[in-house]
Amino acid sequence: MKSAEESNAATLGPQPGGYVYIIGAGPGDPELLTIKADRVLREADVILYDDLVCSELMARFTALKIFTGKRKDCHHFEQEAINEEILRHARAGKKVARLKGGDPFIFGRGGEEIEVLRQNGIGYEIIPGITAAHGASAYTEIPLTMRKISSSVAFCTGHPVSKIQVPDADTLVYYMVATTVHEVLDAVAQKGRDENTPVAIVQNATRYNQSVLIGTLGELRRGEKAVYSPALLIVGETISLCVEDNWFSKKKKVLIAGGDSSMYNTGEFIKVNFTCKGAVESEHERMENSEPLDLDYIDEIYFSSPLCVRNFQPFYAEIPARIIVTVADEATLAEYGKLFGGDAATIMH
Ligand SMILES: C[S@@+](CC[C@H](N)C(=O)[O-])C[C@H]1O[C@@H](n2cnc3c(N)ncnc32)[C@H](O)[C@@H]1O
Repeated sequence: MKSAEESNAATLGPQPGGYVYIIGAGPGDPELLTIKADRVLREADVILYDDLVCSELMARFTALKIFTGKRKDCHHFEQEAINEEILRHARAGKKVARLKGGDPFIFGRGGEEIEVLRQNGIGYEIIPGITAAHGASAYTEIPLTMRKISSSVAFCTGHPVSKIQVPDADTLVYYMVATTVHEVLDAVAQKGRDENTPVAIVQNATRYNQSVLIGTLGELRRGEKAVYSPALLIVGETISLCVEDNWFSKKKKVLIAGGDSSMYNTGEFIKVNFTCKGAVESEHERMENSEPLDLDYIDEIYFSSPLCVRNFQPFYAEIPARIIVTVADEATLAEYGKLFGGDAATIMH
């Protein structure tokens, strides 16, 4: 139970000592951010953002951006240091946005962060996000509940191994399974689930590189398949309703290297932005460039200028022949031909 003072601090609105918004960014597709979150992020002075928040989303906002996730070769904060950083900016009177992947209250440590704000009398609000389970469900066409097939769903964690639980729900969704998928499958089987129960592993849900592996509990237990983070494991009969050519897989994934890409604003395409700046100045820009895009999932690439072709080439020496290449003009076409030795590009009109 909170003291009256702590509760008041939480509900009074902006304090002289600043104000904090704990915000869910959704599972990856930048368009899955809520309108409210978008407004608050545009107004924020500082955004502290996590690992699973996509860089395309961050590029929309002008606030000071502080990356608090964990990535190779990059300084990252432990939870205590994140709490300190939030408090420091809030006490300086700033409007602080704490942006987390998915929903802050689903395996997101949002609860811990508001505890600290309450204890320190800092005002705050929480803006929910679409959790990975909902994103994966919608973008793979796997309903989490379905009349006559599944009337309950449980969100569980696969990490750490000691915390793996198997509740009595028709559909089970496991978060954080990248290193423990086999332990989770074993636990589910030991709980008595039939070996023929359908199971799905959804990696990078709602992102251009979403992949779905479907099998039965028995098959996946025997398989040696590596699972890459971020990934969810779904167990339950509704998986059998899923179709391989689901609506998201039918979209063309187009990599946009710079410039105006409004011609791709039709329902047919999923746009993936390549930051085509030469020099990288801030830590945020470094993060934007640190995640190489996987061309295996790309159907088309659009270059808006010769500079974008030049900045793209050090990252991707070759462009697979199946990818359609389009360019903005003759000069870009010439640069593309020079650097990639191809004449297969077409000029976009
Ligand atoms: C620390 S939890 C954060 C969950 C987040 N708060 C949410 O509501 O989705 C991180 C785990 O979420 C899952 N996850 C997050 N984004 C995902 C995505 N795009 N595709 C698949 N799984 C995802 C993965 O299981 C990942 O290991």
